[in-house]
Amino acid sequence: MDQKRALVTGITGQDGSYLLELLLSQGYEVHGIIRRSSVFTTDRIDHLYEDPHEVGRKVILHYGDLTDSAVLRRVIDRAQPHEVYNLGAQSHVKVSFEEPEYTADVVAMGALRMLQAVLDYREKSGQDVRVYQAGSSEMFGSSPPPQGADTPFHPRSPYGVSKVAAHWYGVNAREAYGLFLCNGILFNHESPRRGETFVTRKITRAVGRIVEGLQTKLFLGNLEAKRDWGFAGDYVKAMQLMLQQDEPGDYVVATGTCHSVRDFVEEAFGCVDLEWEKYVEVDPGYFRPSEVHVLQGDTTLCWERLGWKAEVDFPNLVRMMVDYDVTLARQEGIMRTAGHHMAVRGAASI
Ligand code: NAP
Ligand code: GDD
Repeated sequence: MDQKRALVTGITGQDGSYLLELLLSQGYEVHGIIRRSSVFTTDRIDHLYEDPHEVGRKVILHYGDLTDSAVLRRVIDRAQPHEVYNLGAQSHVKVSFEEPEYTADVVAMGALRMLQAVLDYREKSGQDVRVYQAGSSEMFGSSPPPQGADTPFHPRSPYGVSKVAAHWYGVNAREAYGLFLCNGILFNHESPRRGETFVTRKITRAVGRIVEGLQTKLFLGNLEAKRDWGFAGDYVKAMQLMLQQDEPGDYVVATGTCHSVRDFVEEAFGCVDLEWEKYVEVDPGYFRPSEVHVLQGDTTLCWERLGWKAEVDFPNLVRMMVDYDVTLARQEGIMRTAGHHMAVRGAASI
């Protein structure tokens, strides 16, 4: 194969940005679908942006949306991808209770639209296409830990239900049409590029701002929930590895360890020698109508088949995020002193 081409939905998201870096480092030409917005949403990939006038560029962005099948078909025709990574999603669990129908449209129907577009392109062009579908440990929901390849799904949110539908649409395309489709069932993965309303980043952002005197309180919901938290930069490697195997399959991707939200808080405030109890308050407004209490992945298959395991452990993940957010808050403080009362948003330097 001469030039390997990938198409990535959700390229402006946390994972999309790390995956873009990984694919470029391996020589891919990468096409990404971005949504039109009244403000720029490309902060996380701005450092990789290439002007359309550049000859031989490797990053090509297309406007599109997972709710619009015509544009998905058009972009696939233009990109002619060998690999498609479907990462686009309304990915916030709590928000999915507020917007269940929209979440289903993007997460479940969006995955189906993408599969249909790939299948039609494959038939028309005669070119093989491999597909990665971003599944989630939220699909396991209330099934007890450790959750592995054989654990039954019992989702606890409209988001989780939609991801289960996307999972089975993928399995069906594999069984019915022989599509090379891999479902990656990824447990929570974080980074300094994590969206600021997910609990880990909400905590580390607050720690940075408290240290800099920009904030005095942090309001959180359920401190007892437990998650298997890893580093997003590690997890995108597993996605790409899945599509390089001889046979398609579904994989659980996790660290195999598990910590509570309270543990994360303790660790993060500990990084800057602050007593978290002085700053953190529980606000039931952040509780979910139905909670996923414990997620802890069984990593056996991923290790045996892909040779993949998480490299960044819990303390180093927390430290990486706190260090980044302390620097970010310092910049915000400087800007405030200069009279700019605007939050400095997370840039993509880590
Ligand atoms: P994220 O940071 O929230 O990024 C989501 C991406 O999807 C963004 O690029 C967003 O675009 C895009 N998007 C949202 N709605 C869309 C639509 N209607 N059409 C096209 N694109 C749309 O999520 P992430 O953490 O990178 O996660 C990537 C994927 O993995 C998601 O499918 C998520 O559900 C799944 N996942 C994540 C985790 C995790 O712990 N991070 C674990 C398991 C599974 P904008 O930038 O314009 O908003
Ligand atoms: N967001 C948030 N905000 N969560 C809080 C808060 C808060 O103030 N306080 C406590 N939590 C608890 C939530 O109730 C949940 O149990 C846990 O912290 C983690 O919440 P999130 O960080 O929002 O992540 P999530 O586990 O619900 O979903 C993430 O991981 C999934 C994989 O398991 C998202 O990235 C999903 O897209 C992903 O599929």
